[in-house]
Amino acid sequence: MSAKKVKTAVLVSGGGTNLQAIIDAQKSGIIKSGEITLVLSNRYDAYALERAKAAEIKTAVVTRKDFGKDFEDRLISVLTENGIELIVLAGFMVILSKKFTDTFKNRIINVHPSLIPSFCGEGYYGLRVHEAALKKGVKVTGATVHFVNEIPDGGEIIEQKAVRVYPGDTPERLQKRVMRQAEWKILPKAVEKISERILKNERL
Ligand code: GAR
Repeated sequence: MSAKKVKTAVLVSGGGTNLQAIIDAQKSGIIKSGEITLVLSNRYDAYALERAKAAEIKTAVVTRKDFGKDFEDRLISVLTENGIELIVLAGFMVILSKKFTDTFKNRIINVHPSLIPSFCGEGYYGLRVHEAALKKGVKVTGATVHFVNEIPDGGEIIEQKAVRVYPGDTPERLQKRVMRQAEWKILPKAVEKISERILKNERL
């Protein structure tokens, strides 16, 4: 009999390179306390869904267009029906309400492409974060994995990693460097760390 693993859902909206990093970390054994059992997207066209299918992981799509004011309730139902114990936001471009974050208190983590508290909160997502960092002229940026509460990017910090900004960087170049050097490393590390604590029944 195989050991119990934390049932993990990864929520995505786009390319899914962070999802891929978690899938790869699961295969290589960096993640051993948890298992992705569901990939949930708010967009039918998210390439992340193809990555999930290639890895033979169950997928679901819940869009605001289909569910309107019941969008979050539908998300909660799908996650609950699938027995999800840990939710990983990996490029999930939706701001979640207090009702949602309270339903899964200390069971939701997010990766953000800056060193929080810089360049975070409402309006700071994807390339916009790197545009703001370059505009400010910071010499160091990075990525953060944190718990999710009702304040956008406001929950307790779990992991951070710094990345150099170089002269002539474009938002796209900086985004790639931050992903490669920081996000794809600290996200799997945080998933394992939190899954291990859930398995041990530690208070989070
Ligand atoms: C990542 O850079 C992630 O940190 C960012 O979106 C990108 C998704 O890429 N998330 C946010 O900005 C959330 N505020 P991916 O789909 O290739 O993982």
